[in-house]
Amino acid sequence: MMQFIFTFLTYHIFIVSSQVSNILIFDSGVGGLSVYREIQQLLPEQNYFYLFDNEGYPYGELPQQKLLNRVENLVSSLVTKMAIDIVVIACNTASTIVLPSLRKILDIPVVGVVPAIKPACNLAQRCVGLIATPATIQRPYTHELIRDFSSDKEICLLGSTALVDMAERKLRGVPVNLSELANILQPIQGRIDVAVLGCTHFPLLKDEIQQVLGVHVMLVDSGKAIARRVASLISPGMCRHVSQTARIFASTSPYDGEALTRVLSDWGFNHIENFPIQGSSDHSQPGL
Ligand code: DGL
Repeated sequence: MMQFIFTFLTYHIFIVSSQVSNILIFDSGVGGLSVYREIQQLLPEQNYFYLFDNEGYPYGELPQQKLLNRVENLVSSLVTKMAIDIVVIACNTASTIVLPSLRKILDIPVVGVVPAIKPACNLAQRCVGLIATPATIQRPYTHELIRDFSSDKEICLLGSTALVDMAERKLRGVPVNLSELANILQPIQGRIDVAVLGCTHFPLLKDEIQQVLGVHVMLVDSGKAIARRVASLISPGMCRHVSQTARIFASTSPYDGEALTRVLSDWGFNHIENFPIQGSSDHSQPGL
């Protein structure tokens, strides 16, 4: 009897511990890795597929319709090819426009990342700084969040692509120039007590941003909340019994690919695979 119970438990534990879901994390560049880090820490046993559209980068300056077409094309193709169970659009700029259409096209959960205005306003005494891409600070979606959740708090908006470029360079090993960073942050410097990192690239610069803004400014991002959301969506029904993997795909060959590949191996990715826009000749100019 004891032996039967032992065998049953061993078998059961093996089955449960070997169940994994295929999770796709998408961004225009390396920023989504800040979200991947949080999800992977909470759910280390899942399969991860990271796709970045560096051919369309920077999304903060891409015309809206072009962005929509690119995200729909790339995400839905990879979902089909890799039998993805959950999609995470780890990009505020994309999430503020693509979520409704992606959810129509795909029959799996699609999680988006939007600026953490609500928690920031709950924490702020004075003024909240929203640091995001030029597109995100203009989006109607962002202004609805501000209207619904800022209540009596003042919001200072700062849109910057230079900051996104800085995060891309830092991940490739280039040291951050603090005086350049201080220049970018100058419009909100001394005016805010909470800053929303409203672009997934910015948590990669968290230490430097904190250094420039000062320790009295609280930095808020959506990474941990997204990880909890993904955890809540994993159900045994979407799990399969295969060994755990982490693969990374780029829509075109990345700049300074050697440095990037070296760094990505520390994040658990072996090499960068090519995954271009499918079945279309409408390519944007390569970005970073
Ligand atoms: N990481 C992206 C975001 O959260 C966008 C960066 C870009 O391509 O401009 O908005």
